[in-house]
Amino acid sequence: MKHPYQYGAPADETELRALGDVVIAALAPTLPTDDVVTTRWIERVSSGVDPRVVRDSQGRVAGGLVNIPQGQWFGGRSVSTGAITAVGVAPEHRGRGAASQLMAGLIRELHQRNVALSCLYPATQPVYRSADYERAGQHYRYRLQLPPVLQRDDGVLRARPMLAEDEPAVRAIYNLNARNSTGWFDRSDWFWQRMILHSHRYRLRSYVFERDGSIEAYISFTHEAEPTRRYDLVLTDLRASTADGWRALLAFISAHQSMAPHAFIRGDGVEQWFSLLREQQGFEVNQRDDWMLRVVDVPRALRDRGYAQHVTAALHLEVTDPLIEANNGRWVLSVANGRATVERGGEGRLALSVRALAPLYTGYLHARALAQLGWCELDEQSADAASSIFSGPAPGMPDVF
Ligand SMILES: CC(C)(COP(=O)(O)OP(=O)(O)OC[C@H]1O[C@@H](n2cnc3c(N)ncnc32)[C@H](O)[C@@H]1OP(=O)(O)O)[C@@H](O)C(=O)NCCC(=O)NCCS
Repeated sequence: MKHPYQYGAPADETELRALGDVVIAALAPTLPTDDVVTTRWIERVSSGVDPRVVRDSQGRVAGGLVNIPQGQWFGGRSVSTGAITAVGVAPEHRGRGAASQLMAGLIRELHQRNVALSCLYPATQPVYRSADYERAGQHYRYRLQLPPVLQRDDGVLRARPMLAEDEPAVRAIYNLNARNSTGWFDRSDWFWQRMILHSHRYRLRSYVFERDGSIEAYISFTHEAEPTRRYDLVLTDLRASTADGWRALLAFISAHQSMAPHAFIRGDGVEQWFSLLREQQGFEVNQRDDWMLRVVDVPRALRDRGYAQHVTAALHLEVTDPLIEANNGRWVLSVANGRATVERGGEGRLALSVRALAPLYTGYLHARALAQLGWCELDEQSADAASSIFSGPAPGMPDVF
């Protein structure tokens, strides 16, 4: 049976603390149960992100989440997205509809705030499907065995510890990689500071690689203890803007081999540095997680992304959205010169739910695959048009959040 829960921002520090207690108990229950952990959590979410709660009929905090406002790259343009993390419901409230009402409240709020998309990593899918998120992109964690696959430093670039003033150059290298992707984050300041350059849990070490004072690569990593007095390298971020940069990074990782049997690296499935590895052996996928996407605002999401320059096509959509009334109905998407216009009307030749639109939008599933799943109805011309419009690099994301 569904019980009513009310969605909103935490009213005060007491509610924020209650949310912190629920989320930590739900997602990181092995952390020490003292006030220090919750206080640190409150400090982390107090600016740059949006904590949200659901309250039960007596006004008590039953659960909540944190929205990280940032962008996601599609077709060379950054589209506004709400990246959702820290979803948790107190055990005594589970199975009563608290999480589905939380997600519905969030989607309505994001739509009101003119946000186009929302994405998340699901620990379980039904809760998020109830708010019309669907699997739409990949994330991988790879394990590289050191040393056999990596190479020696050719000495072209000089490595040194990263300084605060290197941040603009480091961010520019990341953006150069990210803007050519499908789905990587256009990271917010909060994300850079809290998730990439500094971690609340680990001591991160960061280095840059330069030539004549100009930075061509960077790496951030921490260590994970092994039971054998050795440790694994856990690379939280690494990117290069040149081939020499990538070679320097691989050599740098390799230079840890006497103590680190393995390096763990995150990526989106097809990484350009794979092609620089000497061998395929000693390299394995340690974990794969597909992220889910919600198209929050249909016309805005279609209009704000980029498309391949050479594609000129039109698609007549008919969308159903049980949560956001404004998304419902017929739309004509017309693409030319890398941009789109979206107008009301048309013939509705590709009919689908807003949930099924998510994997089509990212290119995770093409329109004929959606039809085979029974997730859309379409004619042949629409299938061809959709294939050209939503083509591009495979959708992925190296970041976890
Ligand atoms: C996952 C969690 C948030 C669900 O909260 P909840 O309030 O119990 O969820 P709801 O009652 O709104 O359930 C919504 C739907 O999801 C399903 N569902 C809920 N919890 C589920 C679970 N753990 N596994 C599989 N399905 C689940 C429900 O059956 C329901 O589906 P239905 O509408 O088809 O019946 C809660 O169990 C929790 O906090 N778990 C621990 C932390 C966690 O896993 N967070 C998610 C991180 S991504």
